[in-house]
This record gives sequence, C-alpha cells and structure tokens, in this order.
Amino acid sequence: MFTTLTPAASPLPSLDLFAAIETLKRDLNAVILAHYYQEPDIQDVADYIGDSLGLSRQAAATSADVIVFAGVHFMAETAKILNPDKLVLLPDLNAGCSLADSCPPDAFAAFKAKHPDHLVISYINCTAAIKAMSDIICTSSNAVSIVQQLPADQKIIFAPDRNLGRYVMQQTGRDMVLWQGSCMVHETFSEKKLVQLQGAHPQAEVIAHPECEEMVLRHAHFVGSTTALLNYAQQSASREFIVVTEPGIIHQMQKQAPDKVFIPAPPTATCACNECPHMRLNTLEKLYLAMKNRQPEIILDPKVQQEALKPIQRMLELSGS
Ligand code: 13P
Ligand code: SF4
Repeated sequence: MFTTLTPAASPLPSLDLFAAIETLKRDLNAVILAHYYQEPDIQDVADYIGDSLGLSRQAAATSADVIVFAGVHFMAETAKILNPDKLVLLPDLNAGCSLADSCPPDAFAAFKAKHPDHLVISYINCTAAIKAMSDIICTSSNAVSIVQQLPADQKIIFAPDRNLGRYVMQQTGRDMVLWQGSCMVHETFSEKKLVQLQGAHPQAEVIAHPECEEMVLRHAHFVGSTTALLNYAQQSASREFIVVTEPGIIHQMQKQAPDKVFIPAPPTATCACNECPHMRLNTLEKLYLAMKNRQPEIILDPKVQQEALKPIQRMLELSGS
C-alpha cells in the first residue's frame, strides 16, 4: 500500500511515507517497535511487532540509538525506563490507556499502605509512578507463571486489571488483593452477541485476551496474550476463529495464516469501540513526523525512572530473559 502525506495534512509536499521512514530509520539508527493494535500501515513498517513482554525484551536488547514506539504511553515509558540514555519517541503523546488511568498513584499508595505485608505485582499496563511502587511487573503472557514462582504463603496485591487478576487467581488457585481497574476495550465485548456469533459459526474457535470479563472468557477455547493468540491461531487445526481482543491483531493473523478466517468479536454497542481509541491515535503520518522532528519524546522524572527499573528487571529475570 502506498501512503502519502498530502499538502492538506502537512506543509510538506506529497511523499512516500514508507520510503521516507526507511531513510529516517537509517539516518537516526532507529528501531520501530509496534504493538499489534496499531493500524496495518504501522505494523508493516515496524522492525518488530509483539505483545508487551516481547516489546519489553526488544527494548531491553536493542542497540539502536532511537526507539520509535508505536504503541501507548506506558509501553514507551517502559522502553525509556530500560533505556534512560536513548531517545524514545511516541508518535502521539496523547496515546494513553484507560487501564493505566484507572490506577492513580495517590490512591494506589493509600491502597498499598493498607496491605503492608503484601508484595505488589503490577500489570505492565500502568504508569511509571505505579511501577515505581511495585515489586514485580508482569504482562498477560507471564502473569500466571510469575505468581506460581512465588512462595505459597506470599500475600499479593495485583494491580491494576481486575480481569487479568481474577484470571490469574483462577489459574493459580491463589488468593490476591485486586485493584479494581479495567480496560475500556476488553470490557466492551458482548457475551450475548458472542454466543450468537458462535451459533452462526459453529466450527470457529473463540480466542480471547485475559483482560476480558469472566462471562466472555468462559466461552473461550483459548485465552492468552496477543502473541499467544496469534501463535495459537497459526498452530490450531481449526480454520475459523472468533477473536475477542482489539481487532488490530487480525492484520497479523491474516498475514501469518492467509487461508484461515478471523472474525472480530462484536462490542455491546453499535460502534467501533472494540478498537482501542488510544492505540489508534498513532498514524503513519505522525510516526514519520516524530522521526523527522525527533519528538514527541518520552521524558520521565529521574527518580521514578530509576525506581521503576527494578520491578521491570525482576519481571525479565522471572520470564527467563
Ligand atoms: P499484550 O499484547 O501484552 O497481550 O497486551 C494487550 C494490551 O491490552 C496492550 O495494551
Ligand atoms: Fe489500554 Fe485497553 Fe487500549 Fe490496551 S486496549 S492500551 S489496555 S485501553
């Protein structure tokens, strides 16, 4: 696909954005890391596309001077925490996350103070300030394994996603104190419409992200992180899948398994609210401009940045990297 930046969108003349981004990548010694929920053009120009754990591992290992993070703010923050001396760019600084927003630092500090003997495990979908108050960070792909590695009598606070927390409790048989946050996208799926869709596609497997509510997850044949869903869809003998996560990932599913059919699960309302409005703020044009202008840049409070590093490193150690 040939995407141009027209004079109406910018004072710049029309330009082949894919070629211009490739040139800037070489000039800046930059790497483009993208999440699966980004628009297809961004996924196609990225050096690496992955889930939050894969993206963190790539950020920790890169030798590039500049990291262009095509995802949301907490992901770019994580890359910056792992690379305090590198330039980390986010195409749109307003690309936030409802889940991260559902856990304000002051309220979380008071919550934590009520449970002084608890270890704090925070899902990576939180701000750097929350990470700095945490003992271990986890993602949807390693949360179960990290909790299983802790002593059975260890008391745990799990924040901020109540749905992932409940799922981890079910999988591990552990009790945890849950912060009551959630993702606006994954809570939008309709159980009723999902069941109707299954009726219309009886051969389809339902694959779902653990940020979904329990009433939706109980219809799933497989639950996992975005990368796990992608791998499952490729390896499964089934030819049809109902995908219960942000539909941006279907671009990669179709690329990697072109002979299979992927049906996005419908939201409750008649809207496109199964698309993450935060992730979709990034565009190929904004990505190009961020590289050209070397901004917007992620800048963090140095103390928060330093304190947030330890729990991320702990996660990487506990995840075998
Ligand atoms: P993963 O890609 O790590 O599964 O996370 C999904 C998500 O909601 C990112 O915001
Ligand atoms: Fe946050 Fe949900 Fe969007 Fe992921 S999909 S960035 S958790 S709002």
